[in-house]
Order: sequence, then structure tokens, then C-alpha cells
Amino acid sequence: MQLNALLAALWADFTQLAPHAADIAGRLEARGETVDNDHIALRTFDRCNADLEAIERILLPLGYRCLDEYHFSAKHLRARAYVQPGRPRFFVSELLRKALSPGAQAIVERCVRSLDASLGQRPGQELLHSGLHWPSLEYREYEELARESEYAGWLAAIGLRPNHFTISVNTLTTLPEVADVLDFVQAEGFRINNSGGRIKGTPDQGLVQGSTLADRQPIRFADGVRIVPTGYYEFAKRFADAKGRLYQGFVPASADRIFESTHRS
Ligand code: NI
Repeated sequence: MQLNALLAALWADFTQLAPHAADIAGRLEARGETVDNDHIALRTFDRCNADLEAIERILLPLGYRCLDEYHFSAKHLRARAYVQPGRPRFFVSELLRKALSPGAQAIVERCVRSLDASLGQRPGQELLHSGLHWPSLEYREYEELARESEYAGWLAAIGLRPNHFTISVNTLTTLPEVADVLDFVQAEGFRINNSGGRIKGTPDQGLVQGSTLADRQPIRFADGVRIVPTGYYEFAKRFADAKGRLYQGFVPASADRIFESTHRS
């Protein structure tokens, strides 16, 4: 039950950030579809009380196991996938702070210092949708971070909240392929992320994905409210390997381009 409560809280928090996701889910349900999640993506800083290991300590007691670890060196990220049969996967990434420039590190350092001060050593599951633990950045600091690392800018401005949810296309009945879902979503008036093509991945790789472009929402900065990209909705279809086993992991090259759904332009 703890997991159901967490998933509900994450969805409630995420749809505040990305109202178009609730809208799309509603339109799919109106077609008679049942919307299941393939995965939920969380972002955090490394080497702090809310880092990847801290999040792992929340997920493992909920029945998850770590499937694999991924590295995105160009984006200075490390990620792990957590799985549990019949449940949405978690894709958790952390920003490798030392890879940033000294200026960017100094901004992020302030966030992490406040975060560590606000958390105990063993934060509870509400950590995953707890938002900002630090004073709001000035808008120019956000811009400076985002120029260097879109991920760092997003995390510092928005905090610990779900970055995206992902619909499992495998369980849809009237839209069998990711391309069908993207066509439907686009026809309903939503914008699609075309970075690296509409469709990322191939059936051979085991995972095909696409996504919307992030909503742009008012976020409070130290010097006023500004409109920034917040959260996007992803669509994933998994394919079986030669032995008939459905692929469970993630494809780094595809995830790399999907990360660009929250790019500012
Ligand atoms: Ni994803």
C-alpha cells in the first residue's frame, strides 16, 4: 500500500508540473484505454543526503531491485533503473557535480548544502516529491546553469519532483505503436519532442520511445516569477528478445535525446 500511496503522490505532484500529462491520460481513458506507467523518472544531485543511493534506500524496501546502471558522460549523469514485476519502473539519475564548471558548481553547491541541512540521514519516501530544499535561485543563475547543463538548471529551479512519467504503450489496445500514440497526441494539439527524431530506439534494441515537449510553467525565482520548461510525458514500447523475454532496461542513446524534452528552446 505504501507503494500505491507513493505512486499516487508522485502523479499528483507531476501533473501540477505537467498538466498536459493529466490531459493526455484523460483523453486516452476517454477512448477506453487503461493507462499504465512504464517508468517514472527522478533527478537528483550526487554526493548528498538525497543522492542516487539515498533514493535507492527508499525504493528497495518498496520491493524494487536495481536492474542496471547507466552513464551519460556528455551530460554528466549517472542513472540506475529499478524494477519490480507488474509495477512501474523507476529511472533515477544524479548529476555528477564535479564535472560542472567552477561557476556552476558554486550555484549547485548552495542548493546541496541547504538540502543536506534540511534532511536527516534517512529521508522518507516523500523525499521523491518534496520540491525545493534551498532558497530559490535568481533567474540569471538558473540561466547560467541551464546553459551549461539543462539538467542542472531544471533540478536547481524545480527541485526533487518527478521529471517525467512514461505510458506503457504495450498495454494500450487502440494505439499499438509509439508512432500511433504520437500521432494521436499531436492530433489532440500537444507538441512532440523531435530532438533526434520523433521516435527514439528500435525494436531490435528492445525499447522504442517518444515524448511530448515539456510544459512551460511559472516558477518562482528569487527575483520574480518566470516561465520555464517543467515536465513532459513519455511513451514507451518494449519488445521481446530472441528468447521471447521482454526487454526491461533502458537504451542510453535514446534516453540522452529524451532528456532534451526539457530544453529551453
Ligand atoms: Ni524516460
